[in-house]
Amino acid sequence: MKRNPNILAIETSCDDTAVAIVRDQQIVANIVVTQKVHADYGGVVPEVASRAHLVHIIPGIDQALKISGVRQSDLSAIAVTAGPGLIGSLIVGLCTARSLAAAWHIPIIGVDHLHAHVLSCFIDHPNIELPMLCLTVSGGHTQLVLVDDVDQMKIIGRTQDDAAGEAFDKIGKMIGLPYPAGPQMDRLAQDGHDTFSFTRTDLNTYDFSFSGLKTHVMYFLKERVKQNPRFIDAHLHDIAASAQSAIVDMLLSPMKRAIDHLQVRTIGIAGGVSANSALRSATTDLANLHGLSIVMPKMAYCTDNAAMIAMAGWVKYRSGKFDDLRLTPYARHLL
Ligand code: KG4
Ligand code: ZN
Repeated sequence: MKRNPNILAIETSCDDTAVAIVRDQQIVANIVVTQKVHADYGGVVPEVASRAHLVHIIPGIDQALKISGVRQSDLSAIAVTAGPGLIGSLIVGLCTARSLAAAWHIPIIGVDHLHAHVLSCFIDHPNIELPMLCLTVSGGHTQLVLVDDVDQMKIIGRTQDDAAGEAFDKIGKMIGLPYPAGPQMDRLAQDGHDTFSFTRTDLNTYDFSFSGLKTHVMYFLKERVKQNPRFIDAHLHDIAASAQSAIVDMLLSPMKRAIDHLQVRTIGIAGGVSANSALRSATTDLANLHGLSIVMPKMAYCTDNAAMIAMAGWVKYRSGKFDDLRLTPYARHLL
C-alpha cells in the first residue's frame, strides 16, 4: 500500500457526472459535467440522468487523466460513489469503476456520498479542530453530523421530510423559477426583505422539517394571487428573502441546540445549499458568537463533485478499506 496513493474518483449519484484525481494529497483534476437537460422538466429525471452519465463518463475520465498528468499506470485505486443516490445513475459510475479496476488490476473503494460531503471540509483545511459539527445540506439531504475524525462521524439529526435544497427548489418553482431554483432564490433575496415572516418549524430536537413552510408558502401565494394576479412578480425579491430567511432559521435552530449540548470546536457546512450566502453569513455569526472555528469548502467542493469522493477514497485507502468487484449501489443511506 502506498503512503500517498494516486486515486481516480467517480461521482454519478444524481445529475452531475464528476471525475477527480488526487495525487500527493492534492486534488490535481476536478471535472464536473452538469446535465442542463433536467431544467426542461423542472427536476431531475432519473432515466435521462443515467443515459447522460453514460455519454459523459469516459470522456470525463480521459480529460481528468490529461489535466492531471497522472498516467493510468500510476493510479493506485479507484474510488466511486456507491450511494445514496439514484440507482440508475449510481450503476453507471459503479460499472465503469468496476470495469476499470478489473482491467487495470487496482483496488476499488466504495464511498458514501454523504460521508464525502462532510469530508469536502477537509480538502483545503486538513487540520480542522475537532470535534466538528457539520451541517450537510443538499437537494436530497439535510443532516447534522458530529465529526470526531475523518473516519469517525455520527449523524445526530436529519430532515423528517424535504431536504433544505428541495425547499428552495420547490418554493422557487412556485414563483416561476427554473430548476434548480436555489442559486436564483439566493440572488433575488439579496434585494429583498423578510417581510412575510413565513412559518418556522422547530422540532425541539436535532432534526429538521421543511414541509410546513412549503405548504404555508403555497397557500399564502394562492390567497395573495387571488387578490392580485401580479402579486408574485411584484414581490419576487421579498418572497425569496422571506423563504430563505425561514429556511436558514430552521437550519440554525438544531445547530444552536447541538452547540449548547455537545462539545464542539468547529462548525462546518457542506453540500450544495452551503453555497447560500445567507446561510454562510448566519453560520459564521453563530461560530463567532460561540468562539468556534468555521469551515466552508470552496464552491466547487460544495455542490456535487468528485474531489470529495477522492478525499473519502484516500481516507479509506489509508485504513486499507477496499471493496471487491461485486460492489453494488444503494439508494438510501445505510447508517
Ligand atoms: O449537493 P448538490 O449539488 O446536489 C445534491 O446532492 O442534491 O445540491 C444541489 C442543491 C439544489 O437543491 C440547489 O438548489 C441548491 O443545492 N443550491 C442552493 C444554492 N446553490 C445550490 N440553494 C440555496 N442557495 C444557493 N446559493
Ligand atoms: Zn450531494
